[in-house]
Amino acid sequence: MEGLNHFPEALRESARLVVKTRESRLTALRRGESYPSLSLSDRRAWLEEFHPDYRADSCRPLTLGPNQGDLVPCELADLLESWPRHAVSRHFALSRRSHSAAEGDPSALAPFSKQVKADLHTDVLVIGGGGAGTTAAIAAAEAGAKVLIVTKLRHGDSNTIMAEGGMQVADQEADSPVQHYLDTMGGGHFINDPDLVESLVSDGPRVLRWLEELGMLFDKYPTGRMKVRHGGGTSRRRLHASGDVTGLELMRVLRDHAESFANIRVLPFHPAVELLTDDNGRAVGAVLEHLVAGDRLPTIQVVHARAVVLATGGFGRLHFKKFPTSNHYGALADGLVLAYRAGVPLRDLRYCQYHPTGIVYPDRKIGLLLTEKFRGWGAQLLNYHGEEFVFGLEPRDVTSAAIIRECTEMGNGITTPSGRVGVWLDIPLIDLLHGRGTIEREFPGRFREFIGKGIDLRVAPVLTYPTLHYQNGGIAIQSDGGTDMPGLYAAGEVTGGVHGDNRLMGNALLEILVFGLRAGRSAARFAQNNGEGSNPGVSHLESFMEALHEKAAGQHRTSPRLLPSYGKSGLPA
Ligand code: FUM
Repeated sequence: MEGLNHFPEALRESARLVVKTRESRLTALRRGESYPSLSLSDRRAWLEEFHPDYRADSCRPLTLGPNQGDLVPCELADLLESWPRHAVSRHFALSRRSHSAAEGDPSALAPFSKQVKADLHTDVLVIGGGGAGTTAAIAAAEAGAKVLIVTKLRHGDSNTIMAEGGMQVADQEADSPVQHYLDTMGGGHFINDPDLVESLVSDGPRVLRWLEELGMLFDKYPTGRMKVRHGGGTSRRRLHASGDVTGLELMRVLRDHAESFANIRVLPFHPAVELLTDDNGRAVGAVLEHLVAGDRLPTIQVVHARAVVLATGGFGRLHFKKFPTSNHYGALADGLVLAYRAGVPLRDLRYCQYHPTGIVYPDRKIGLLLTEKFRGWGAQLLNYHGEEFVFGLEPRDVTSAAIIRECTEMGNGITTPSGRVGVWLDIPLIDLLHGRGTIEREFPGRFREFIGKGIDLRVAPVLTYPTLHYQNGGIAIQSDGGTDMPGLYAAGEVTGGVHGDNRLMGNALLEILVFGLRAGRSAARFAQNNGEGSNPGVSHLESFMEALHEKAAGQHRTSPRLLPSYGKSGLPA
């Protein structure tokens, strides 16, 4: 069959069945018949049986710190209960003898034992140069603060630029922020923080206008009206997109705008490895590690700040339960680590988000996204036999559970030559439903990328399986972006409370803007009213390390990990 030749024989047989059933599925869709949505009790049952995080062995309780006793994924618990990468405490001598085994070479820690003097000073230190951090920096600079953005990789390297399908904003006549609020609370299983959700949905329309003023290119009809689509779990069409490269386009305008401020400086390749606190328990800066330090460049820099915004993003590169990920290279939970060992509470980290349609074949694209927007335009999820087995726009956690069920209990998955299993996403249906040219126009990023590799999305289905996509919870914040620590603000994926146990598509891009603006403004205000703090240092590490020692936790691990390590295949082992 035409267009299927790139598949190895093991996949081609099933791909032919997809083509064979396409016409009858199309006829049903044209008659308005779609696969029935699951009942609430079936949703619950499938989640409990098949979602990776509902398995009892996927989590363990934290043994120390402000969330002691809370269940979090085992890999995250291990990371939070690790020794500081550099013990920068001047009190380190206290614990050095007893912990020397923890960090291979304890002499590596010596240079920082008394190093609390500043190399750099700023009003607002923003840790993270993705969408949330850049937005916070813009807001703080607009409020008159001197701002320093420090970022692990280049400015903009982040999960923001990986976001494809869109941003939810209730700006259409048939919609309202109230409707958006209800969808978001329902999607999150009603454990979301209602105040945060209210802030999210009510700031949405204003944020959308701001982005338009900055020059962000949204998909529109020739009349100028915004094109909006459904995402999983939404009761109204409110996803605003820029093709399938929405996050990249968003980051383009944010970065351009940030560059126009003389009072914003960016320091790339400088991840933060520790927060600085003062005698009053305030956040007053950070210790940075220079990733590309050479002989003449310092490895460590200390920044003193009047206020700090944490915007380090998520944790997909931790590859929980060996899942592939859609996340960017630096997504390793650095912000959670820094905040937690400084005593800042976290929330809602029990369940992660597995995006239903990560790429399974070709191997070199494993884990990358096929945006939910494909399903919003009518692409169907199909099993080995070319049959639908779930309504494609259930909330994400439910769709992922359904795919795992189909591949395991039902035995209807398709196995690739490298031994991975998946189900089909029948993308060609989109052109049949909406007219030739729709796939090319609405999904220019993936369309061009695949056609360049000899795969035509207009004729061939793609094999997909859930991929680790999003950190639903994180640092507990209030509506102004403030945390439990004075002077410490946080925004974006590093925070928890907005999404509860399960985020809806398109709420992440909105969140980084709404809470980036709020955190940036609040941090600037705090900086205006407070000095640099007395005795900036890392004395908070002392009690953390004592607790580690007492619980015999941490073993030989150190954190933050900063970058992932992969085997020869380039895939998680
Ligand atoms: O499917 C997607 O395009 C993902 C979007 C999101 O996670 O918000």
